Amino acid sequence: MNRVLLLAIPLALSLRVANAQGGQVCNSTSPCPASAPCCSSFGFCGTNDFCMSGCNPLASNTLDSCRPVPVCQSGTHTFTDNSRIFSNATLFDGNATEYDWVVNQGNVMNTNSSGGELALLLTESNGGTRISSTRYVHYGTITATMKATKWTGVVTAFITMSGIKDEIDWEWPGNSTTSAQTNMFWQGLIPAKTIGETEDGINDTFGTYHDYTIDWQPDALTFLIDNKTVRTIQKSDTIDSNGVVHFPSTPSSIQLSVWPAGINSSAPGTIAWAGGMINWNDPDYQAAGHFYALIKSVRINCADPTTPGANVTSYVYGTNSSLDVPSIAFSNESVLVSGAFGATASFPVPTLMMVLALLTALTVL
Ligand SMILES: *[C@@H]1O[C@H](CO)[C@@H](O)[C@H](O)[C@H]1NC(C)=O
Ligand SMILES: *[C@@H]1O[C@H](CO)[C@@H](O)[C@H](O)[C@H]1NC(C)=O
Ligand SMILES: *[C@@H]1O[C@H](CO)[C@@H](O)[C@H](O)[C@H]1NC(C)=O
Ligand SMILES: *[C@@H]1O[C@H](CO)[C@@H](O)[C@H](O)[C@H]1NC(C)=O
Ligand SMILES: *[C@@H]1O[C@H](CO)[C@@H](O)[C@H](O)[C@H]1NC(C)=O
Ligand SMILES: *[C@@H]1O[C@H](CO)[C@@H](O)[C@H](O)[C@H]1NC(C)=O
Ligand SMILES: *[C@@H]1O[C@H](CO)[C@@H](O)[C@H](O)[C@H]1NC(C)=O
Ligand SMILES: *[C@@H]1O[C@H](CO)[C@@H](O)[C@H](O)[C@H]1NC(C)=O
Ligand SMILES: *[C@@H]1O[C@H](CO)[C@@H](O)[C@H](O)[C@H]1NC(C)=O
Ligand SMILES: *[C@@H]1O[C@H](CO)[C@@H](O)[C@H](O)[C@H]1NC(C)=O
Ligand SMILES: *[C@@H]1O[C@H](CO)[C@@H](O)[C@H](O)[C@H]1NC(C)=O
Repeated sequence: MNRVLLLAIPLALSLRVANAQGGQVCNSTSPCPASAPCCSSFGFCGTNDFCMSGCNPLASNTLDSCRPVPVCQSGTHTFTDNSRIFSNATLFDGNATEYDWVVNQGNVMNTNSSGGELALLLTESNGGTRISSTRYVHYGTITATMKATKWTGVVTAFITMSGIKDEIDWEWPGNSTTSAQTNMFWQGLIPAKTIGETEDGINDTFGTYHDYTIDWQPDALTFLIDNKTVRTIQKSDTIDSNGVVHFPSTPSSIQLSVWPAGINSSAPGTIAWAGGMINWNDPDYQAAGHFYALIKSVRINCADPTTPGANVTSYVYGTNSSLDVPSIAFSNESVLVSGAFGATASFPVPTLMMVLALLTALTVL
């Protein structure tokens, strides 16, 4: 049974901006200058990492200012250790062969409580944790096997997000352990007020691993839980009276996050949506030193409208293919940034504090 949400919040806007970016503000009507050509996911002009994941081609200096984004690759990502996760998205050189995920914000931990899984941590000081896939998906079936959070004011999210903010969401706001929410945005906008929906009747989103699937195809978007369809949105139902199709159509990274909605700096509607303010005195938080969600695996089955040849490395944006929808093409260009700031560092050796935190987590999780 589904309840329609009255409120839908684009995740991109609700995650706290950890590293406040300076520079000129950009959007599609006011793109970046040649001197700082790339419009970052937070809407500021810059160079280097501003041109990487999340860069908005339509708000950048030219359509090819952003780096091409790595082409989709089918496979299953597990988390027995952190070797495929690069610790700091700002320093990532773009080599998607070397790393499957980057940490955009916050702290991750390998718990290994049942053969290896990734914990995304929320602390009072870290503002939440978000990781992004290094490769993009341009249509495909993505399944995350995971356990969400269960605490008032805390939100877990498993989404796809493109440079122009086409977004598909699974979200777990607040302390319900029997429901999850599905949502969709087109270029940062909600296509219809009723688009957010609650999927009820899940037996323990916190205590039990479930498979949550985003099946994003060119003509329809289907959400599944444990391989059972709970919702389908037809692209044909998203066309407005001007003929504009409000359906996600641009290459997207996969993002997993835990973030604090129930804090003073959030909008009142966001706090209410997440069930209220976070209780930092919660015994779970006091014992572990963090709130957490667990990711066991992410399975990706690419469904590009045209199968990429062996020479294809990336996706690039072209001019609009139809009203308000940019065309997407394959490219053989490198996705790497110049060596200037690209780092070769791997995941940092755990500090004593991290080891202590890990031991604590193994006891508590
Ligand atoms: C785009 O940015 C310009 C300059 O900052 C601003 O005046 C304008 O309101 C913005 N447009 C939108 C749609 O946000
Ligand atoms: C986690 O467990 C798996 C399977 O037992 C093992 O291969 C892996 O090395 C462990 N990872 C860590 C970080 O201990
Ligand atoms: C990532 O690297 C940048 C640039 O060195 C640094 O400013 C930032 O604090 C780092 N972030 C984290 C979470 O370590
Ligand atoms: C990317 O990483 C892979 C795997 O580590 C490595 O073999 C390859 O040389 C790297 N590519 C570049 C251009 O550095
Ligand atoms: C969720 O939080 C609300 C408000 O804080 C509380 O009334 C309710 O009992 C909580 N529900 C669960 C299942 O913990
Ligand atoms: C929920 O799952 C648990 C074990 O995973 C089971 O014992 C319980 O009966 C289930 N509850 C419902 C309502 O299906
Ligand atoms: C869903 O289907 C996949 C592929 O057939 C399978 O590996 C997985 O175990 C299934 N998940 C559940 C919860 O049944
Ligand atoms: C948040 O707001 C409440 C109520 O206005 C206030 O009591 C509390 O001190 C604030 N907390 C922080 C961290 O600012
Ligand atoms: C790369 O693409 C260009 C055109 O976009 C083409 O001329 C060239 O042959 C391609 N190179 C390879 C190795 O496929
Ligand atoms: C192309 O689409 C973008 C939005 O994706 C829109 O802002 C722009 O006006 C469109 N351009 C043309 C020429 O239709
Ligand atoms: C890949 O190679 C084929 C020919 O083998 C060519 O037609 C195509 O344009 C190339 N694509 C890219 C993106 O380089």
